[in-house]
Amino acid sequence: MKMGIFFLIATCVLSTAITSAQESDKDKPSASLQPPAMFTDLPAPTTTKPTATTKPTTTTKPTTTTKPTTTTKPTTTIKPTAVPGPTPSTNITMGNFTYLEGNTLYVMAQMILQVKVNDSKTRGTFIVQPNMTKTSGVIKKDSVSFTLTFKEGTITFNFQRNTTSKTVYVNSLHLNMTYAFTAGGKKTYIAKNESLDLFKAAIGHSYSCKNESISLGNEIYLEVTQDRVQAFNFTATNQFGQMDLCKADQPDYTVAIAVGIVLLILIVIVILAYICSRRRRSDGYQSL
Ligand SMILES: *[C@@H]1O[C@H](CO)[C@@H](O)[C@H](O)[C@H]1NC(C)=O
Ligand SMILES: *[C@@H]1O[C@H](CO)[C@@H](O)[C@H](O)[C@H]1NC(C)=O
Ligand SMILES: *[C@@H]1O[C@H](CO)[C@@H](O)[C@H](O)[C@H]1NC(C)=O
Repeated sequence: MKMGIFFLIATCVLSTAITSAQESDKDKPSASLQPPAMFTDLPAPTTTKPTATTKPTTTTKPTTTTKPTTTTKPTTTIKPTAVPGPTPSTNITMGNFTYLEGNTLYVMAQMILQVKVNDSKTRGTFIVQPNMTKTSGVIKKDSVSFTLTFKEGTITFNFQRNTTSKTVYVNSLHLNMTYAFTAGGKKTYIAKNESLDLFKAAIGHSYSCKNESISLGNEIYLEVTQDRVQAFNFTATNQFGQMDLCKADQPDYTVAIAVGIVLLILIVIVILAYICSRRRRSDGYQSL
């Protein structure tokens, strides 16, 4: 949008510059040295941005950085300020949740998980504590139902492997949690979203995202932060596959591309204007 407007303005300015140049051509042909200065002034602001196009291929990183043995890393202690008296004070902790059957790894999910409730009566965040969480799974040929069980309840992610689109993603998410966000306000929250397209990555790849919020209805949200997730087709040594970034984390090239296109069009216009003015001038000389 912005680029379109910019381009419109640029072409308007340019066309007026061209017509004024042509008009001044008519009056006194010797003045034709000035208009090129106007052309060189114009594209100047756009030339500052295209440097962003120089580093495009930094997205794929080697996958050897994961250490499945380090389960929990406490980072910071937070006390939910909006909540008067929550049951336990919880720490934001990165979890490494895995599900193995035999020696086969089916799911590995590194993430900070928080359940956020924001309805008229309750407002608060529950942080899943990885060191008090157990994992379980139900494996089928192309799906795995992966459940996290903690003292306050369960969260189930259903991973689906789609061999047609060659992707793996979570298509449904269930939450069942009993928690007191306020003192004495113990309540059971049951929520689900069964039309999801979550954590989508190519088969054998892992999904990564800095921050996302999944609505489970009834003003209940699952906040997933700093996640790296994969189900099925791990490497031979049970490591994550190549990383597929979520949309929000992918570098945005649209601006750079738009600037490039505008520059190209400007150059074409300048060349056309130059050719036109030359032809006009030679015509003028002939008529003289
Ligand atoms: C939170 O972390 C602090 C140290 O960082 C620890 O002393 C405390 O027990 C932790 N609380 C919970 C609920 O794990
Ligand atoms: C993550 O996103 C939620 C809203 O989707 C926002 O409230 C929160 O501040 C974000 N957290 C970080 C660490 O960016
Ligand atoms: C994923 O693993 C299955 C066996 O579990 C195998 O049949 C399939 O070819 C693998 N797919 C890819 C893309 O590696």
